[in-house]
Amino acid sequence: MSEEILIPATTNREEVYLALIPQVKALLGNEKNLVANSSNLMAVLKQAFGFLWVGCYFCIGEELVLGPFRGPLPAPAYRRGKGVCGKAWETRETIVVPDVDLFPGHIACSSLSRSEIVVPLIDSKGNIYGVLDIDSSIANDFSETDSKYLNQLAEILGNTVSE
Ligand code: SME
Repeated sequence: MSEEILIPATTNREEVYLALIPQVKALLGNEKNLVANSSNLMAVLKQAFGFLWVGCYFCIGEELVLGPFRGPLPAPAYRRGKGVCGKAWETRETIVVPDVDLFPGHIACSSLSRSEIVVPLIDSKGNIYGVLDIDSSIANDFSETDSKYLNQLAEILGNTVSE
């Protein structure tokens, strides 16, 4: 059965996140497959906010390997520690990049990308298994609000794996 996500008609991002959270819990809650659930989460985020690029990379060996995404074609893999994604993997911290041109070692997925947020993906046992990466064509587009709610959405995804 196909699912529909209801997105409030508001430019208030917090209101949109608050509406998404219970819907994402319901959407992911009956499935344990990571590819299925991360695909659905990327589609929801793209539909809700229209960001330039929304996707995830999974930790495989010493690389972050491309997972489900929406947006321009990116590189298929990055070494640990490289770029914003590799840094978030190394530090297990959310990284907000207000201006991608000012982040040393930033790797561009598109010349249209101006700002970025990367959230570590942690499973229910506390292991990092990937990163959620979002790029915006607007400079300084991500705030503490995005960081807070994207971490909550990442936690919902993480709770569906490694149970
Ligand atoms: N900008 C990322 C690379 C991935 S693309 O944005 C999809 C980085 O520097 O790690």
